[in-house]
Order: sequence, then structure tokens, then C-alpha cells
Amino acid sequence: MVGIESLAFYTPGYYLDLTTLAEERGVDPGKYLIGIGQEKMGLLPPDEDVVTMGAHAAHYALKDVDLSTIDTLMFATESGVDQSKAAAIYVHQLLGLPSTTKAFEIKQACCGSTAALQMALALVHQKPNKRVLIVASDVARYGFGSSGEPTQGAGAIAMVISSTPKILEFDPESGSYTEDVMDFWRPNYMDEALVDGKYSIKVYLRALSESWKQYHEESGRTYNDFARLCFHLPFTRMADKAHTHLARVSGNREVAPNALAARHGASLAYNRVTGNSYTASLYVGLTSLLETSDEDLTGSRVGMFSYGSGCMATFFSGVVMEGYRSAMDARRHHEMLQTRRELTYRQYEHFYRFRLPIDGSDCNTPRYTAGWFRLAGVKDHKRIYEKVVKDEPSGTLTHTEMVV
Ligand code: COA
Repeated sequence: MVGIESLAFYTPGYYLDLTTLAEERGVDPGKYLIGIGQEKMGLLPPDEDVVTMGAHAAHYALKDVDLSTIDTLMFATESGVDQSKAAAIYVHQLLGLPSTTKAFEIKQACCGSTAALQMALALVHQKPNKRVLIVASDVARYGFGSSGEPTQGAGAIAMVISSTPKILEFDPESGSYTEDVMDFWRPNYMDEALVDGKYSIKVYLRALSESWKQYHEESGRTYNDFARLCFHLPFTRMADKAHTHLARVSGNREVAPNALAARHGASLAYNRVTGNSYTASLYVGLTSLLETSDEDLTGSRVGMFSYGSGCMATFFSGVVMEGYRSAMDARRHHEMLQTRRELTYRQYEHFYRFRLPIDGSDCNTPRYTAGWFRLAGVKDHKRIYEKVVKDEPSGTLTHTEMVV
């Protein structure tokens, strides 16, 4: 038995309401709220990056875990902070992991986290007394005023994979699909992703049918074996399109829209208000499903579809463990979302335009973070991270330098 022992997620303490963006862009808010299915987008302040977000999530995922059992830390991201050094090494240091823990970074767009998961499952099968920490952390950035702009967001997840899962046990079968396409990419000289959104939806759906086909052949399971489904969520409306497509290609054309929504609806609640978090997105969806579903999901089989543009995709599944609710951190996640600060449009623009120096000069970043870690600045070309000393021992958010 191998699966998820603990699961935590993080999104920064700031967001822009998409009705505010719609007003500025002269767009009917219904397009963002209904057509795209997003209400708010999480925004990264200047003193946070994928390392600080990932470290915060991992801090909570590890709270009841013996650190000496962590064999490997895999960090999945497509918003890397260095061409050579893995973000995992910074997290390893910030969390005080043992020097015997291997730490490295994995990339294949939004699917890197699932590639890490597949490796983690094999590793834990090989060494059942060891654990793997997976961190997936990303900032979704698109051109200012572009069609991708309302699908921005930021967030991280951390999960401990072990032979003593408390949340979800994975089935051994999976189906994958790889194809060289240019639907979404970010060249080294750009801070924003380039995306052909409509084309990407088509490739996503093709990758879904192909990976489903292989999964179905390997496992013999059919659509009706899944009590719930989670899809990669570049925007939550994508789940409706994906689920309708899956029902059709698996020979279930007659499933009514409300029956589809009943199987994936609870997985959308968090992503609707955090926005896209690339590698983390599918697992933020899983967290949302397990924490916001009214029903007890014990014993339910959850089908999961991970898509990484470019592209690689995997369909896989797992079964929810008895007692999973007490292993989740629903109250803290809910509080984190409730205590975020809403930005004005001008404040959003200020965050969006902030850049660390690109000429090699030193800098100190202003203090904004709502998390336990911050990027204090850059000195001699080196990123300097620090632990945050909170004003309140409860970890209540502090926003000390709102300059705009
Ligand atoms: N009320 C309700 N719905 C509305 C509306 C309104 N007033 N106005 C438009 N809509 C609907 C449209 O009908 C459309 O629905 P459909 O998808 O069912 O056809 C939807 O809103 C989006 O409108 P569209 O004109 O297609 O939007 P767009 O050209 O601005 O593109 C995305 C939307 C999502 C494709 C774009 O934001 C994007 O590319 N985002 C990035 C996605 C990504 O990262 N993909 C790669 C990784 S998987």
C-alpha cells in the first residue's frame, strides 16, 4: 500500500477579485465568473516565490512526520528561480531536513508534480520504511491585458508519500500520453507564459482521451468505477469540458450535467479563488474535494487527470482512506483563504510590475509575506531566504508594507 500520508496547500495572502479586473478591461464579469469559472486570483507579493510558497506548504505537511524518514524531496515547478540549483535545496535547508535526504527539481509544465508522484510511488515500493516529500509550487503569469490574464494565480502543495497513507491509497495503474505541441510555453527570456488557449484546450482533451484509453486497458476499470474525479485546472470551467469529454469517450454520453458536477464540483472550490497554480493545481483540486465535500468520501475511488502543456499527461486513480478527514487541515486552509487581503487594481499592477534586478545588483525586498518564509533579497547574485518572525504567535497574517 502506497499513498498520501499528509497533504497541505498554500496560496499567498493577496488576491484580485475578477469583477475588478473585468471592470478595468471592459469585459462582462460573467465571462470570468461563469465562462472561465474563476472568481479571484491569488497574487504573489515581491518577497515570495516558489521556494517560500513550497516551504510553507511543506512545513505543515511535515508537522507529524519523523524527518529522518524522508528519503527524497522532489520539487516540481515551471517557475524555477535558478537554471542550475534546484528550488528543492533551499526548501531542504529552510525545513532542516537531514543531509541524507536527496533533493532535486522536476519539470514538465503542470504535469511535473505527477511525474514526481509516479517516481515517489516506485521509490516507496522499493523502500517501504522511507517517505518522499513532494512539493509543487508555481506562479501563473500571463501578459498584462492578455486573454490569459484572468487565469493567473499562485500556490503550492506539499504531500508526503509513504507506505502508511492516511488520506489516499494510489492504484498501481496509470495511462500517459506525450506529444510535441506548442500550446503553452515560456522561453528563458520571458517572465510571462505564451499560450494558445483554444488550441491548448483541444490538446488537453486529446491527451485526456488517449491517457484514459491506456488507463482503462491496463486497469479494466470503467467510468462508473469513479465516485469522484479531479482534473488539472488551468481555470475551473475546464473541468466541465474535460468531464463531459471523458464521459463521452468512455461511452457514457447520457450523463446529465448535474450528475457530472456532482462528481467533480467539490474539487473546484479552492481553485476558483486561488487561480491557476500549474504543478500544484490538480492537487489543490484534490485537497478541495476532500475538504469541502459534504459527503464522507471514505472508500471512494477518485480518478485524476494531470495535464502539462507541451505536452505530457497522465490519468491515474486512488481510493480515499478511512479517517482521512482527521489527516486533512481543512480549518487552517479555510482560515488562510478567508484572511487574504483584497488588492485594488492599482495594487495588482504594482505587484505585477515588480521585478528583482536583472543586472546583478543587490536588493532588499519589501516585507509583505503572509507565510512562514520570505525572500529577503538578493546579494552577490544569491537569493537570500529567511524565516518570518510573526507578530502574533497564532500565525495571524501581517501586511506591513502596503506601499500603494
Ligand atoms: N457570460 C458567460 N459566459 C461568457 C460570457 C458572459 N458574459 N462571455 C463569454 N463567455 C464564455 C464564452 O462563451 C466561453 O465559453 P466556452 O468555452 O464554453 O465557449 C468562455 O466564456 C471563454 O470565452 P472566450 O472568448 O473563449 O475567452 P478567451 O478567448 O478570452 O480565452 C481562455 C479564455 C481560458 C482560453 C484564456 O484565458 C487562456 O488561454 N488562459 C490560459 C489557459 C492555459 O493556461 N492553458 C494552458 C495550460 S492547460
